[in-house]
Amino acid sequence: MATGGLSKYLFVAAIDIGTTYSGYAFASTKELKKVKDYGPTPIETIVWNSGSRSLLSSKAPTALLLKPDKTFQSFGYMAENDYSDLVSEEEDDEGHSYKDYYYFHRFKMDLHNNQSVRETSKMKDVTGKDLPTIDVFSHSIRFLKDQLYDTICTRKEIVRGELNEGDIQYVLTVPAVWDEKAKEFMQKAARNANIAEEHLMIITEPEAASLYCQHIDKDISLLNTYLMVDLGGVFDVTIIKKKSSEKQREVMEILPGTSGGNYVDHAFGQFLSDIVGTRNLDTFKDHYMEDNIDICRQFEGKKRCFAAGSKSNEKMVYISVPRALESLVKADRSLKGMDIAIKRSPYAQQISYVRHKLHIPESTFSGFFQPTIDCIITLTEKMFFGDNVIDAVVLVGGFAENTHVQTSFKEKFSRSRVFIPEEGTLAVLKGASAVIQI
Ligand SMILES: Nc1ncnc2c1ncn2[C@@H]1O[C@H](COP(=O)(O)OP(=O)(O)OP(=O)(O)O)[C@@H](O)[C@H]1O
Ligand SMILES: [Mg+2]
Repeated sequence: MATGGLSKYLFVAAIDIGTTYSGYAFASTKELKKVKDYGPTPIETIVWNSGSRSLLSSKAPTALLLKPDKTFQSFGYMAENDYSDLVSEEEDDEGHSYKDYYYFHRFKMDLHNNQSVRETSKMKDVTGKDLPTIDVFSHSIRFLKDQLYDTICTRKEIVRGELNEGDIQYVLTVPAVWDEKAKEFMQKAARNANIAEEHLMIITEPEAASLYCQHIDKDISLLNTYLMVDLGGVFDVTIIKKKSSEKQREVMEILPGTSGGNYVDHAFGQFLSDIVGTRNLDTFKDHYMEDNIDICRQFEGKKRCFAAGSKSNEKMVYISVPRALESLVKADRSLKGMDIAIKRSPYAQQISYVRHKLHIPESTFSGFFQPTIDCIITLTEKMFFGDNVIDAVVLVGGFAENTHVQTSFKEKFSRSRVFIPEEGTLAVLKGASAVIQI
């Protein structure tokens, strides 16, 4: 990495609010300056713990909980856990029901492609209550920024208060399709979160990911034109082209977010609904939120380590069904229990139910992935049409960490070079943390 205008900052810190997961990363500018081209980066992140199902991740769910007076309550896994506790309780210590709280889950989903997000935009929480979108972002950025500050102080053994706001260069990432006004929205949200404009940079997600990939892989840095495919909660692809000056790149064309890892979750939701019935599943989600979170986290864990094996030696994927859902199915007169529910479902020949667990063959589980993988591959192929000569495909984003996804891409694009850098989930964050150095 070449040295840039960083001397006045002690740290660079990046915040990425994604459609499904959000997080932060940071690095000391002193260490960044020492980094060699294609060497390891000194960029640090943290591990978030879900608190249940032992789900550990380098980013936290994009979930925000606000109190009835619209002040901050929690973010990430904590927000999911707190809200599910509120739903289980009749009312909190002050007599408020969960419906009085404001809960936003995966709130960037609707905005990812929406380049016209503005200061005046509003969004609805899960119970349909309106709040200015900018407040949702400001609260989230403030939480991540405050935690980031604490993490830097702890890790670097700095006494809190001795590290000033002016010592940190903040970098916030935005989707590539966001226009100038949408970027101004993000700037304002950051300002509300006490990040002064003079210490803030905004960079697009594919640009950040691209910087990271070029830094860690010499072969990527030598490419002339490549597709930066971000397989996050949603999928988007950007053509990155080398400019005449050695290291700079320009963004040519963007295919904004569609499909992506989130759609695999929808497929699993549809599978459950096909077995237990939509009405039972809706009742379960509304009244047994803690159990619903549990089954979603179970699925997330299985999804993350899923690698489709050979058909001759097929393994099973096991999903425990919460007792609450079992009871709802049992009480349903037309089903009378999980066994009949499965027999009547489209999966009667494939799955079984033993000791409160669904036994799902890998081929059925792979079916949750396949439509999404097919869709993103078709969309990626489209980018090869036209005048651009594409040298390679570079995959980043959480969904790209899955071996099933990787194998499918490598098979389909066997005639192109496919790069899948390590820690693809963190490519955006790590690239953003090093943006002024590279
Ligand atoms: N190993 C894995 N296998 C399969 N899916 C994974 C794996 N790791 C993460 N995911 C999925 O990747 C998605 C999250 O990726 P990422 O953190 O890059 O998204 P994001 O930044 O929130 O989304 P976006 O960039 O689209 O706004 C989720 O759908 C998650 O389930
Ligand atoms: Mg992302």
